[in-house]
Amino acid sequence: MVRETLSRILREAGREAARPFRDADAPITAARPAPAAITRRRLIGTALAAGSLASIYGAGRAAAQASGPFSLPPLPYPEDALAPVISATTIGFHYGKHHRAYVDNLNKAVADTDFANKSLDDIVKATANDPARVAIFNNAAQDWNHTFYWNSMRPNGGGMPTGMIADHIKDSFGDYAKLRQEFVTAAVTQFGSGWAWLVQDQDKKLKVVKTANADTPMAQGAICLLACDVWEHAYYLDYQNRRPDYVNAWLDKLVNWDFASRHLAA
Ligand code: FE2
Repeated sequence: MVRETLSRILREAGREAARPFRDADAPITAARPAPAAITRRRLIGTALAAGSLASIYGAGRAAAQASGPFSLPPLPYPEDALAPVISATTIGFHYGKHHRAYVDNLNKAVADTDFANKSLDDIVKATANDPARVAIFNNAAQDWNHTFYWNSMRPNGGGMPTGMIADHIKDSFGDYAKLRQEFVTAAVTQFGSGWAWLVQDQDKKLKVVKTANADTPMAQGAICLLACDVWEHAYYLDYQNRRPDYVNAWLDKLVNWDFASRHLAA
């Protein structure tokens, strides 16, 4: 029904996607697009507002031309929407070059394999501990991680969490200040490239973890709530070697608590 609804909206606008949706069940839930977003994103936003589309991940997959089963999902906001915390130049390279390269390389890596017919989530989990599938895992996980990262941010985000996730933070960390301290420490001390995460573990407790390179907590069964990319390509054009400044600004001005809340398990 979700696919039918979005397809109908797109058809009516003369912008029907060229390929059928294949990943609509993926658990990554996108933030509502900014009002200034392009027309197609407004259409997707209309579907979201109507409560008919739990995720635009599948729609995004269908939105871009691809040379394989996977395609670059749309950003949930314009490239300049996070400035000045993250510049349009950084987003342009990070999304348009780096993320796109992961998607392109994933398509090449799964060509003529059984993985070409699997969901991105299933590929990440199936290849996470397989030394023979490192190339597939790295590109699949980086595709997944980056999509989660874009949605972990929003224009005019940051600040104190509210609602249900605030209760979980108090229960797991004592207060937001402790969570914030742990998150900054994880992000700053991740040696080399990697990620800082807020996750909900199988015991329902929230935890801060860090992963190296393409590694992702979702492959180990954790529910991801927030992801902060600490690869240098995420911040170096704007902050050079000042990773702490990037991480602090990310938390204070960009973090999308609504997105994190939507992934909480009761
Ligand atoms: Fe990145």
